[in-house]
Amino acid sequence: MISHDADLAVERLRAGGLVALPTETVYGLAADARRPDAVTRIFSVKGRPIDHPLIVHLADGDLIDAWATDVPAAARRLADLCWPGPLTMLLPRAAHVDDVVTGGRPTIGLRVPAHETTRRVLQELDSGLAAPSANRFGRVSPTTARHVADDIGHLLDPDRDLILDGGACAVGIESTIVDLSVSPPQVLRAGAITESDLSALIGPIGAARGPSRAAGMLISHYAPACSVALADDRAEADLLAEALRRAGALVGVLDRTTDLVAAAQHLYDDLRAADRDGLDVIVAVLPPPDGLGHAIRDRLTKAAAASDPGLSSPTR
Ligand code: TXA
Ligand code: MG
Repeated sequence: MISHDADLAVERLRAGGLVALPTETVYGLAADARRPDAVTRIFSVKGRPIDHPLIVHLADGDLIDAWATDVPAAARRLADLCWPGPLTMLLPRAAHVDDVVTGGRPTIGLRVPAHETTRRVLQELDSGLAAPSANRFGRVSPTTARHVADDIGHLLDPDRDLILDGGACAVGIESTIVDLSVSPPQVLRAGAITESDLSALIGPIGAARGPSRAAGMLISHYAPACSVALADDRAEADLLAEALRRAGALVGVLDRTTDLVAAAQHLYDDLRAADRDGLDVIVAVLPPPDGLGHAIRDRLTKAAAASDPGLSSPTR
């Protein structure tokens, strides 16, 4: 089911199948966004609540008006400067967009991914691709075709669906989500394009308020099967790991704070490796909250929130 054949991927999408495909952030599980029947299957494969909206991926920024309306100048500027790239913009949706894509919301998330193979698929298909990350709901996102096969391969139909292998994802964590349907715009999910990058390009960004509007903002998400415990520095991580080992747990320490680009690239494989190794707990050192550090802290904090507190804190 894993293939390098982009033409076959286009064929499968045209026939209403699902294709897991590479982007620069993480692998997505894609269906033609103009086919509600195909999009609906994404939710059953992922085990995702049906009212959670999907990002629509486009071949090019010029297509923004085919999917959104009332596009503000700031969105056009970001499309010009950040696409293709790890940025999703929420905009008022165009009338034709099906409710299953947007979870019935008045907005649509749009992004032009920076991965050659997937852009070729998008150009050939001549439509948008609705795609969430290609993992089971609430779990760790996939950054290789093998991760996808491990997570959902058994739920895909080998005669209708496909996993398109485009190598390991370069960025490794999901796109930044900025809501441009409100003024000032708000960042709903941190990513490789930071809030300060955005404000340098379009001016002030407001604080996200009220109930969470992006499912990735749920307090627990991105979780491996083992518990994730957090430490502010290496010394604290080593102390905590030692205490947990004394209590009988199988423990690993994750510390990539010296290279944040590599930390993001490998984050999800590191969490998956902890499960492959059968660890009870992985103690992760949080990077400083600058630049890419914000997004990595966000993912680790949410992964830890899903953990068993009895295991991750020996003092309780
Ligand atoms: O990097 C990425 O964004 C990856 C790749 C595949 O593009 N996609 C991804 O999709 O992370 P997903 O579905 O796993 O996370 C997208 C988040 C979800 O929390 C979803 O609820 C939110 O974006 N979202 C999408 N459209 C939205 C909308 N119209 N309003 C509010 N939240 C939205
Ligand atoms: Mg996801």
